[in-house]
Amino acid sequence: MIYIHIPFCERKCNYCAFNSKIGGTAEKISYVEALIAEINLRGDNSAIETIYFGGGTPTTLTLSQLEKIICAVEKNFNVNTCAEITIEANPGTVDENFLRGLKTLGFNRLSLGVQSFDDALLKILGRIHTSRAAIETVELAKNFFANVSVDLMYGLPNQTLQNLRHDVEIIKKLDVEHVSIYGLEIEDGTKFFELARAGNLNLPDENLCADMYDFITQTLPALGYRRYEISNFAKKNFESRHNRGYWTGKKYFGFGAGAHSFDGKLRTSNVRNVKAYIEKNFSVVEEVVTRQAAMEEFCFLGLRMTAGISAKTFEDKFGANIFDVFGDAIKKNRRHGLLEVDGDKIFLTARGMALGNEVFADFLL
Ligand SMILES: C[S@@+](CC[C@H](N)C(=O)[O-])C[C@H]1O[C@@H](n2cnc3c(N)ncnc32)[C@H](O)[C@@H]1O
Ligand code: SF4
Repeated sequence: MIYIHIPFCERKCNYCAFNSKIGGTAEKISYVEALIAEINLRGDNSAIETIYFGGGTPTTLTLSQLEKIICAVEKNFNVNTCAEITIEANPGTVDENFLRGLKTLGFNRLSLGVQSFDDALLKILGRIHTSRAAIETVELAKNFFANVSVDLMYGLPNQTLQNLRHDVEIIKKLDVEHVSIYGLEIEDGTKFFELARAGNLNLPDENLCADMYDFITQTLPALGYRRYEISNFAKKNFESRHNRGYWTGKKYFGFGAGAHSFDGKLRTSNVRNVKAYIEKNFSVVEEVVTRQAAMEEFCFLGLRMTAGISAKTFEDKFGANIFDVFGDAIKKNRRHGLLEVDGDKIFLTARGMALGNEVFADFLL
């Protein structure tokens, strides 16, 4: 698995704390050079099943810059001809030619950040596109990609259930393969953080957020999108292979500013600052994942998936019985109706999915 971080956006959205900034032309050129240098340095010809270009907004680079990065990956790794190759895109950054170009470069999965199909909400979020533009982009994208995903957000300032109903109706019409839903988090360092602190953000109350969550998690499955992870819904066979890799503890390379890597034992993270990264400051922060941390992660990452975790896989991996190690957490959350055990499988109930973070906290030894 390879993750490539592109830390540039056309404009910074009001809610977003991701490692991204507005990038100039020269800065992007230098960044791509640094990225290729890092790929050349760390590439080891290993077999790769998934590649994910995330950000920021990878589609703020030119097609020729993206091509250079892909070539570097292909030169330094053994990329499977059937690999899943995803790129995140903002609907305001791609047109028909660009989409065609992405397909030619070998991308076979497009993940579009739409957030909402309501123009007033998009404006509040500080998005660069309208609802109409997002719809047109999805329609165009479907001509080039058999696997299109849309990100939606709920719990937004001024958002109503009616807004979400409208979003879901449009998803139904667009008939995309995959939908990710995110409840708004107010992150430090964002415009929303300042507005919320000053009491100037009209956020939906807890009850309305819960209604929104219920609405969306119940409606998408009724439209044929199976929930396979807390935030992710997919038509049959369109689950993201790359993300599933993270949740099941696969090894991955992360290239770019702030990107993380995991080699099965050691987790490393690149310098987050874009300028420092461009200066090819590739020294990394290393963290040995202890056996205890690996057991905890196995549980709280695996439990994100509706399929849950397997007691046998845990035993094979760690040589210990999961009920001996996490017996208290399992018992308590079963008692509260948040967790279920069925034979070898341990998984969250629908209520457990809604309260995932509370359950995961119990899996910290
Ligand atoms: C890297 S962005 C996706 C691609 C592109 N940058 C875009 O926004 O169109 C990843 C997604 O994270 C979600 N996200 C970002 N900040 C968030 C926040 N504060 N709370 C909840 N979701 C957030 C948005 O749905 C966004 O589409
Ligand atoms: S949500 Fe996407 S487009 Fe907006 S600032 Fe964050 S990464 Fe950039």
